[in-house]
Amino acid sequence: MDTLQSIGLGTMGIDDPETIARAIELGYSHLDTAQIYDNERVVGQGVERSSLDREELFVATKVWIDKLAPKAVVDSTEASLGRLGMDTVDLLYVHRPRGDYEPAETLPAFDELRDSGHIEHVGVSNFTVPQLERARDHLEAPIFANQVEYHPLYQPEAALEDAREHEYYLVAYSPLANGRAGDIPEVVEIANKHNATPQAICLAWLTAKDNVVAIPKASSEAHLRANLEAADLELDPEDHDAIDGIEREEEIFPE
Ligand SMILES: NC(=O)c1ccc[n+]([C@@H]2O[C@H](COP(=O)([O-])OP(=O)(O)OC[C@H]3O[C@@H](n4cnc5c(N)ncnc54)[C@H](OP(=O)(O)O)[C@@H]3O)[C@@H](O)[C@H]2O)c1
Repeated sequence: MDTLQSIGLGTMGIDDPETIARAIELGYSHLDTAQIYDNERVVGQGVERSSLDREELFVATKVWIDKLAPKAVVDSTEASLGRLGMDTVDLLYVHRPRGDYEPAETLPAFDELRDSGHIEHVGVSNFTVPQLERARDHLEAPIFANQVEYHPLYQPEAALEDAREHEYYLVAYSPLANGRAGDIPEVVEIANKHNATPQAICLAWLTAKDNVVAIPKASSEAHLRANLEAADLELDPEDHDAIDGIEREEEIFPE
């Protein structure tokens, strides 16, 4: 399977193509957008302004819940491609299994888009294990990724086990707890020990896990750079145990 960069760029809230172009220059090659972020055009313009060719990048977008009837899947994906200025996306997700989502109807439309070359891979997002099982019954393509909320305060272990068992990526969204990393005492303590930031600790902890990649959102050059570098930080086994053992469960984006 294609190898996903361990730290990709979450683009929710980024509305300046220069941020995207700068991120690419710094080394980001996995870009994550969605129809609902209303910035696919911004992402496309950033790619266009960067010095990398489209083929060197991995671009993912997501179909929103009101576009999950079969014809709407196809039409809205074509519209996404138009806004991105691309012939194809590397990964297309079902954003949430809600709204017009009907596995037997929605997922064949994703297969159709793959057969026609509009998309390279099929992904799902915010799926539980039973929803993943049901999806596999209706999808010809292998699931390439399940994108779920994953940070020290919300750890979806069952989803990770499924990703490992069926050999696909778990893409961790809101990996910095949506800006709250510095409020988690266990993480702050480990950051002090390694002379690193709490944000770097979250990313080092996540990306050390098999099958997991993370997509922090950042806008400043300093944050963009620091997050990429965090993948090189190695934590001690007891650091991993301490974060794995955090029992507070605070989901930022519940259903
Ligand atoms: N599939 C879904 O349903 C879903 C839902 C939510 C999010 N997502 C995806 O996940 C991505 C990331 O999630 P998120 O935006 O919720 O939160 P996040 O990545 O956990 O946190 C982003 C926040 O952290 C700050 N930050 C970034 N790097 C930092 C650093 N090194 N030091 C200090 N602060 C730092 C950012 O500030 P600055 O911007 O000022 O740098 C921003 O305020 C989204 O952009 C989106 O692509 C997907």
